[in-house]
Amino acid sequence: MPATTTSSRSDITAARREAAGAGAGPGGYTPPAWTPDFAGLLEQDPEIAGVLLAEAARQGDGLQLVAAENFASRAVLAALGSPLANKYAEGYPGARHHGGCEVVDLAERLAVERAKALFGAEHANVQPHSGSSAVLAAYAALLRPGDTVLAMALPHGGHLTHGSPANFSGRWFDFAGYGVDPHTGLLDYDEVRALARRHRPKAIVCGSICYPRHLDYAVFREIADEVGAYLVADAAHPIGLVAAGLAPSPVPYADVVCATTHKVLRGPRGGMILCGAELAERIDRAVFPFTQGGAQMNAVAAKAVAFGEAATDAFAAYARQVVANARALAGSLAEEGLPVTTGGTDTHLITADPAPLGADARTARGRCAAAGIVLDTCALPCPEDPSGRRPGLRMGAAALTTQGMGEDEAVRVGALIAAAVREDPGARAATVALVRRFPPYPHPG
Ligand SMILES: Cc1ncc(COP(=O)(O)O)c(C=O)c1O
Repeated sequence: MPATTTSSRSDITAARREAAGAGAGPGGYTPPAWTPDFAGLLEQDPEIAGVLLAEAARQGDGLQLVAAENFASRAVLAALGSPLANKYAEGYPGARHHGGCEVVDLAERLAVERAKALFGAEHANVQPHSGSSAVLAAYAALLRPGDTVLAMALPHGGHLTHGSPANFSGRWFDFAGYGVDPHTGLLDYDEVRALARRHRPKAIVCGSICYPRHLDYAVFREIADEVGAYLVADAAHPIGLVAAGLAPSPVPYADVVCATTHKVLRGPRGGMILCGAELAERIDRAVFPFTQGGAQMNAVAAKAVAFGEAATDAFAAYARQVVANARALAGSLAEEGLPVTTGGTDTHLITADPAPLGADARTARGRCAAAGIVLDTCALPCPEDPSGRRPGLRMGAAALTTQGMGEDEAVRVGALIAAAVREDPGARAATVALVRRFPPYPHPG
């Protein structure tokens, strides 16, 4: 039987008061002894300290356009680097397999309550270690090995967990794939419906790693109902925009919503699952003990911090700026001669074709990297290719927006990408000059 723990809000309040009144630091506050000690690390392990410094410099000295990345706040980093990292906490609040969980239980309860409020969900599980772990748990809750699943085909933008033969999903389930129209790049819902009728899947997955437009969850729901399938929304990319009310929410439509917490949402690396009350127990058991052991309580606390941040007006303004910046960047790329899939974006995410500038996607990504611009390649719709696809570039505007860049800078970023792809010798210096004006972690004060 799991050990039952009691929560102690009064202990937390007392600890907070003691810390606030403690002393000598700025504002009468002395940081706790466990606060991450970089100077100590530098002395003890200069090799790893050097890696941390080099990575921080790399992140600040280039343009970080990987669509799945962002710069988490110092508050999120503080929770990640806290003694909650030391705590084992198998199970759920109030029903743990380890003793001493009464304090971390509060963190998980707060994370769950904040996630439920933020997304209007009846149930939230905040323990998945990653987006992939969240999808694994969703399948574990709803499916049996060998079941048929309909998802976006990988070459069209499905994630590895949507049926890749190299992933558990493709090994354990029988996936059928839908795609996007090679001419428009848009989802063809009639094709999804026809495939659902033909394959009679046990679950339909909607979600993508590179689709720049909003999904119509109501149509997916209708198709799933018609064939008696579960609807799983893998909202890893849009969930931050959903939090801000800038993208349609899958919560009212999907049986299970899987997400990551580290993209536009700007939390720690990790996953979460939202669902209705009727699936709550199955989802919880699918996460622990079926697919995971103890939750990482520092990450759970950091997720709570991120959900708290995402509920603010400041985050809503940030998310609006992300979309405005992505649109400005897409427009700038098109002006520079890189066609943008679907002609633009509804989200933080853009895919574009560098071929008119005389470079294939890998070459273009390498040239951008040489200029300090970090982005990915992904498959784009291409009617001229017999496969209907050809590699292109994928990028997102979440990180540069966190740095404080606006539409003017986003337009400049489009020009810098084009300059880099054309091997303009000034591209690197111009990129560094831009990013140095917008440090991701400016010194406080
Ligand atoms: C649609 C989608 N699903 C799942 C994942 C997996 O997330 P993770 O890398 O945290 O496992 C991602 C990651 O980018 C994603 O885009």
